[in-house]
Amino acid sequence: MLIKTADYSASYPGIRKCPESDLPEYAFIGRSNVGKSSLLNMVVDRKKLALTSGKPGKTQMINYFIINKKWYLVDLPGYGYAKLSKTKRRAFRKMIEDYLQKRTTLQCTFVLIDCNIPPQAIDVEFVNTLGKFRIPFAIVYTKADKSKPAQLEENIKLIQNSLLEHWNELPKEFITSANERQGKEKILEYIEEINTKYFNWLKKNG
Ligand code: GTP
Ligand code: MG
Repeated sequence: MLIKTADYSASYPGIRKCPESDLPEYAFIGRSNVGKSSLLNMVVDRKKLALTSGKPGKTQMINYFIINKKWYLVDLPGYGYAKLSKTKRRAFRKMIEDYLQKRTTLQCTFVLIDCNIPPQAIDVEFVNTLGKFRIPFAIVYTKADKSKPAQLEENIKLIQNSLLEHWNELPKEFITSANERQGKEKILEYIEEINTKYFNWLKKNG
């Protein structure tokens, strides 16, 4: 898919404020600092569209970006940032869960997982929550540039095995690096495939 336009649309503090729309949307979600905003910028080829930071907890709202005037990418706050107060962490968690459960135009949630560290219980738990809510998702391994290929493969195996303790099969997976611009085409192809199905469905039923 060619990215012709990618523009910041707006930010919302919660699902209730998000505007009604029948455009398909895709969300990037994952632990704080996993690289959500960086991945978003890399995928749509805009260096500073979503704000990134070395400090966790940068993204605090539901941020909408409109791509090719046809679909949305949504950058969400991270989960599990230990340094946030318990109250704030709980509020983010509720913001994210409300969004995921109620946003009917959400086509796929991309769960970002750092493939340089051992499997994290909070990621497994989050993926299981998506299962419980029956929300379609894909897994995106981030920062693949940080480990040597053999180490990466081994770590991804460990992450997959920890998920397979709860699931019979794994969803679609992508290995990415925002720094080395790896994984962009595959993610865009996948989105395009779903968009095509969605717009066909909308033509018949909308
Ligand atoms: P929050 O909004 O705070 O939850 O973080 P985020 O998940 O949006 O992460 P962000 O994109 O802000 O990146 C966090 C840090 O990881 C920054 O210092 C980035 O430069 C770094 N980073 C992101 N992607 C990559 C990558 O592909 N490779 C490497 N080596 N570093 C990365
Ligand atoms: Mg961010």
